[in-house]
Amino acid sequence: MSVLQKNLKNNFLWGVATSAFQLEGSPYADWSTWDSIFNLNPKITNHYELYKEDIKLIKNLGVNAYRFSIEWSRIQPSENYWNKEVVKHYQKIIDLLNENNITPMVTIHHFTHPVWFITKYPWHKRKSIEKFTEYVERLIENINGVDYWITFNEPYLLILGGYLEGCIPPGHKDLNLAIKALKNIFTCHSNIYDLLHLKNKKTMVSIAHNMAVFAPWVKWNPFDKVLTKIAKRFYNHSVIEGFMDGKIKLPIPFRKTIEIEVPIQGKLDFFGINYYTRIHMRFNPFKKLFVEFRHRDIDGHGLTDMGWEIYPKGLKKVLKYASKLNVPLIITENGIATKDDNKKIKYIKSHVDVLENAIKEGIDVRGYFYWSLIDNYEWLHGLDARFGLYRVDFKTYKRTPTKAASFYSYIIKSRNFYSEEIKKHLSSQTQSPEYINHIT
Ligand code: FCB
Repeated sequence: MSVLQKNLKNNFLWGVATSAFQLEGSPYADWSTWDSIFNLNPKITNHYELYKEDIKLIKNLGVNAYRFSIEWSRIQPSENYWNKEVVKHYQKIIDLLNENNITPMVTIHHFTHPVWFITKYPWHKRKSIEKFTEYVERLIENINGVDYWITFNEPYLLILGGYLEGCIPPGHKDLNLAIKALKNIFTCHSNIYDLLHLKNKKTMVSIAHNMAVFAPWVKWNPFDKVLTKIAKRFYNHSVIEGFMDGKIKLPIPFRKTIEIEVPIQGKLDFFGINYYTRIHMRFNPFKKLFVEFRHRDIDGHGLTDMGWEIYPKGLKKVLKYASKLNVPLIITENGIATKDDNKKIKYIKSHVDVLENAIKEGIDVRGYFYWSLIDNYEWLHGLDARFGLYRVDFKTYKRTPTKAASFYSYIIKSRNFYSEEIKKHLSSQTQSPEYINHIT
């Protein structure tokens, strides 16, 4: 490892994040049949073939870290088949990143599964633990050059969507199955944490937890207020407490709190936070569990193309909640779906401002990853949610930089989260920003 790489490790990680399936699809994944968009766009951005070009885009940004995932269903398209070539493909990406002094952060599970797994061994079955752990054990035996790992991306969203709402695979709506699935997923986290540490003592392992700020829909409404409290505890705090004492306590509106024992106490080297928005809670007697989630533009920052409220201050709130874990924090995702480049620039600036302020106040944040490098497939929303720093034409696969790409390069260089040596390295790598004038 070069001296520079070592130093980068001790420095702030400025990165971009993606997930394999959202960039490259996979014919063997459960989501391929879940959403009909894959009939017309099976390769999405064709990143699987264009990865070298995309790594150049990453390098041009001047970031020193890249978070991406490995698509399990490509490696094990059927239960008893292991595709070595695919593992080599992901290893090539890792090698190329390391050669370019870009620290890889690898997500093992980012929402998708091989069809055989989710049909035969869905998460609520005990056997899922054995199957997934077997896969990961073999994977990490064959992957080298990675220190940062995310075991699961947003396990709560997987449970809420896949086991309570039923809107994502495996499509259940059953609280008892949800509890079993949650326990099995966190048991896998624990197994993988141990395996990764056996292989590499200085490895850094976490999950990426989606955190949000919650507020009552109507400020004075006592029901909305109660729901807001419950949502905070459920969505933000229960996982954090799970890592602290091995018990996840899930408050359910107007019911008894559910307590789930999970073997994850202390199994965390940093905490990955995906932060996007604030959510308003509304009591609605006609909805399931009497809850309705809403977004509204209260502070005048606007809504994204997906209707999410832009709420930069919330980033500090969630960082504060998470700091009670006493491990370094990394913002593993933050970004905006918009076709308006100036809005994207504003989003990045306002969130990085809040981040800088949080660091100044002493919160131990070690990295920020913008979601996403290039436009990609957005779960249940298709190809129109433009999160990318680079625009993608989904017909020709052409990538075009947005103004926000230059702006992000500028932000990285101009923020004082670095040592002088790294700053020098970065300025030799990136071009001068053209869009500084957009900064307000
Ligand atoms: C997060 C997901 C990520 C992406 C962003 C917009 O919840 O982790 O894959 O879809 O939302």
